[in-house]
Amino acid sequence: MKILIINGPNLNLLGTREPEIYGAQSFETFLEILRTSMPEVELEYFQSNHEGELLDKLHEAGFSVDGIVFNAGAFTHSSIALADAIAAISTPVIEVHISNVHRREPFRHHSFLSANCAGSIVGLGLEGYRLAAEWFVRKG
Ligand code: DQA
Repeated sequence: MKILIINGPNLNLLGTREPEIYGAQSFETFLEILRTSMPEVELEYFQSNHEGELLDKLHEAGFSVDGIVFNAGAFTHSSIALADAIAAISTPVIEVHISNVHRREPFRHHSFLSANCAGSIVGLGLEGYRLAAEWFVRKG
């Protein structure tokens, strides 16, 4: 089983970026723990601050990997292109948000991506990525 985790803009700063909202753990540390706890899964990771690179990655992996866990950051609330890419690929995508976007500013309440995703996990911190990966494993 091969799962790709994609993080969008500003998520390279996890651990130092607004820790009261996003926590104090870096994604690299979390990923190491996740990989150790899921040895049966090949977990690939990609992060970019650039919308075009996120599109390219979805196109490249979206017909071969078994599942994509995607936190598009602020592009969630603006990008029709990413929504179209999720619709265009055959691999199912789970949308993850670390914070509970529905408890935050109104502009974070709408996601262009949700309707094209298998499901969404919001507000559960980094655990959301683990739960999404586990869903793909159980689904098989
Ligand atoms: C986020 C929520 C977005 O609104 C925000 O722009 C982010 C992170 C989250 O994981 O909670 O960059 O996707």
